[in-house]
Amino acid sequence: MPRKAVTVCIFLALVLYSFIFLSPDPAAFDRQLAKAATYASSAHSKSALAVLESSPDKKVTNCPDKQTKIDAKLWNSIKKKTDSLLDDKFTILLQTYRRPDILGRTLDAILGEHVPSLLEVHIIWNDPEIPAPENFLSKHGVPVIYRQTTKNSLNEKLRPNEAYRTKAVLLHDDDVYYHPRDMEFVFQTWRKKAQDRVVGAFARMHVQNSEGVWELGFSSDAYSVVMTGLVFVHIAFIEYYWTEDPVMKQIRDFVDNLTNCEDVAMNMLVSAITCQPPLQVNGLKNPSNEAPAIAISTSAAHPAARIACMNDLPVMLGGMPLINTTESIKHGQFDW
Ligand SMILES: *[C@@H]1O[C@H](CO)[C@@H](O)[C@H](O)[C@H]1NC(C)=O
Ligand SMILES: *[C@@H]1O[C@H](CO)[C@@H](O)[C@H](O)[C@H]1NC(C)=O
Repeated sequence: MPRKAVTVCIFLALVLYSFIFLSPDPAAFDRQLAKAATYASSAHSKSALAVLESSPDKKVTNCPDKQTKIDAKLWNSIKKKTDSLLDDKFTILLQTYRRPDILGRTLDAILGEHVPSLLEVHIIWNDPEIPAPENFLSKHGVPVIYRQTTKNSLNEKLRPNEAYRTKAVLLHDDDVYYHPRDMEFVFQTWRKKAQDRVVGAFARMHVQNSEGVWELGFSSDAYSVVMTGLVFVHIAFIEYYWTEDPVMKQIRDFVDNLTNCEDVAMNMLVSAITCQPPLQVNGLKNPSNEAPAIAISTSAAHPAARIACMNDLPVMLGGMPLINTTESIKHGQFDW
């Protein structure tokens, strides 16, 4: 055979091979997830958000044994508003403040590989003074859009924007990330199984000390919070977070006053609305965590602020909404 023909044959064989073996197979993913769901202890979470029933006293009845100040009518209107958003793609909302090196490394890592369902990256440039860089298109064609805030506030990451086109948002700090292949897996898990939960990697648990004070701690066998430095949530929850509802205004003020607790607030809000715990999902690799030694979470005021949010936020929401769970999903945990 002439050399050219041999080259063409090898090329065609490679194309065929990659088509058969490397293309994503949605049916295979469904089978994987079915196995994961069988393994999982709680099988009641939903792949779509529910409308809340409201009793005559406006108390939400989704979680009948709990008190809450969630406004069911307001929630239902927000849920309806978000129903038409894209379901099969997600948006990264990445918050950053004056750490260009760390931001650059994180962007290189998450944009360096093709993530099939990633639609856009919005960078919340939490710095009213230094101008944000120019928007750009990643080498895989993902638009990266900077949004400069008028105030350096932790609430800004959770602020909805007309420009967001997907139901799923990946709330993202500049120093942590899922490796790209894991990011797709976690998104698909959120989409098929847990749209009514906060889905992420770093888990914590609420515990009551001997004086009855709530604290946020660790446990090897249960959790009730996943840290919002890296979580998928339905956009309806961030819409609710930013409503003019008096409870939500008070919570946003509280977060600004403490420069803390937006993560706990988001977990409490979602559990208060859906009566579901969060869901921990890990990748094949551990998520990368570049948090430097000096950060909000290591400052001296931090433990006091954490105690404040663990105890004051439930009062604002009408009761402790957090729910324990032991369920955890890991990419590659099953023989798929
Ligand atoms: C926030 O701080 C201001 C000023 O100190 C105070 O008036 C307000 O009550 C605080 N709000 C909350 C929710 O803690
Ligand atoms: C959650 O579960 C853990 C482990 O079983 C337990 O220690 C903790 O007290 C529980 N927390 C609540 C609020 O039930």
